[in-house]
Amino acid sequence: MKLSVIYDSKTGNTAQAGAWIAEGMNEVAGVEAKAFSITDADVEYVKASRGVVIGSPSYAALMTPDLHAWLQSNGNRLSLAGKLGGAYATAQFTHGGGDLVIQSILTFEMVKGMLCYSGGASFGMPVIHLGPVAINNNIEKHNSIDLYREYFMLYGKRFAEKASELFA
Ligand SMILES: Cc1cc2nc3c(=O)[nH]c(=O)nc-3n(C[C@H](O)[C@H](O)[C@H](O)COP(=O)(O)O)c2cc1C
Repeated sequence: MKLSVIYDSKTGNTAQAGAWIAEGMNEVAGVEAKAFSITDADVEYVKASRGVVIGSPSYAALMTPDLHAWLQSNGNRLSLAGKLGGAYATAQFTHGGGDLVIQSILTFEMVKGMLCYSGGASFGMPVIHLGPVAINNNIEKHNSIDLYREYFMLYGKRFAEKASELFA
């Protein structure tokens, strides 16, 4: 079963988080997961995927304009209806709008008819609320994104297990 992660990323954080999600997905037997930037997404692979996770940096507490434009112009080509959908964000600050970014991506996914999933509290700790958010906290030139590796991998694994339960 194919799964996809699609993201926009200008300085690498959201790309890194997406790679971790795909890595966690690939730990689940029978799953083949790939992560794509919107700049070189394999549309046919995404179309063939049973689940798609979409990620964005927080830009003024919104998804990036490039991701929004890409989703608007490519959304119909991806046959998203009926697929499992998830969302994640990276941000500089804990108060920087990561949850809002996720919420707007989930709203887009619901409009396209996707079945949205976060794991929520069903697995206990760490509770992944709407989706994972990584805070890079680089205000002091220190990028702490690496602290989030296990959390994003765990989200990818949980997402892939749910997709397998539903579709394999
Ligand atoms: C134009 C712009 C706007 C941003 N707005 C926010 C913001 O509102 N809140 C926040 O926490 N971080 C904000 N950031 C920081 C990015 O969300 C953060 O560094 C993110 O991890 C970058 O992801 P990337 O490395 O994948 O491009 C902004 C960055 C840019 C360039």
